[in-house]
Amino acid sequence: MELSLVRPDDWHLHLRDGDILQSVVSQSAKHFGRAIVMPNLRPPITTTAAAVAYREEILKALPPKSYFDPLMTLYLTDNTSPKEIKAARRSGVVYAVKLYPAGATTNSQDGVTDLFGRCLPVLEEMVEQNMPLLVHGEVTDPEVDVFDREKVFIDSTLRPLVQQLPRLKVVMEHVTTLDAVKFVESCAEGFVAATVTPQHLLLNRNALFKGGLQPHNYCLPVLKREIHRQAIVAAVTSGSKRFFLGTDSAPHERQKKECPCGCAGIYNAPVALALYAKVFEEAGALDKLEAFTSFNGPEFYGLPRNTSFITLRKKPWKVPDSYEFASGTIIPMFAGETLDWLPIVDS
Ligand code: DOR
Ligand code: ZN
Repeated sequence: MELSLVRPDDWHLHLRDGDILQSVVSQSAKHFGRAIVMPNLRPPITTTAAAVAYREEILKALPPKSYFDPLMTLYLTDNTSPKEIKAARRSGVVYAVKLYPAGATTNSQDGVTDLFGRCLPVLEEMVEQNMPLLVHGEVTDPEVDVFDREKVFIDSTLRPLVQQLPRLKVVMEHVTTLDAVKFVESCAEGFVAATVTPQHLLLNRNALFKGGLQPHNYCLPVLKREIHRQAIVAAVTSGSKRFFLGTDSAPHERQKKECPCGCAGIYNAPVALALYAKVFEEAGALDKLEAFTSFNGPEFYGLPRNTSFITLRKKPWKVPDSYEFASGTIIPMFAGETLDWLPIVDS
């Protein structure tokens, strides 16, 4: 059995820079036409000039004859100016602005400390420029339980933001809870949407502790209870246009995961398509897969669908135990396990 899909895009991807970029970019370029590239480098991509330079670096790292198109983002800070948003739009290569609450996750230390106090003029300019805001939706208050941080963020920040700026396009990235699903579904279609990762669709928080501590299943937002996993599976397989593919593939070298204070992030680029197919097949919704992988994202961003195709063949294959890159070893999601859907690259 084979499935032919319009080539998917990845609407949330970490490519890093330097050696890791060289190592991982071809894995995404094999399967995806475009990707929204996260700006949380060190230093972060806070200006259009930096985004343009980063895009050049990505293009140079691509294999020959690749058509992969990196769609760049700016990292919002307390000091981002409305002028920078105008420049970003004019550049033609910046497609969105990313909000990291300061301290929420990897390289978010330069993120926003006071969204309503510091960023309103910028957000108003984003409405003018029709520039989406991509949100890491977690509060950073250490008093708030780590499993509740998404829900608290929705109540304290996202709902008031959407009420205040109803014409701002917002993508709630990597949703993990029933609360997020309900919130996104309650908002105006075409203005508020969400990306969903393979890990949050396939794993619940038990996966963090199965047979011992599992650092390669640690990401942020952290995996949640089974009822939440089921809610996001139901949302994506319902056919709703509000949800689309965003892997949040976030490579970290093995030693940075398997250590006393391991980094958050799951490397899933090589397995993501096979895993999304697994989710939709298990839900009896393979007919809804292509809209999620290939239609809903471009429609939200106002971009055309890709014109090439990719085939998924129902054929068991074993996920490598690790990828040995020049930059070191990276352990993929579902390492060593067998998956049923094999993406055929040269179609
Ligand atoms: O798990 C994560 N890893 N979540 C994020 O938000 C950032 C990412 C990274 O950059 O490693
Ligand atoms: Zn991310």
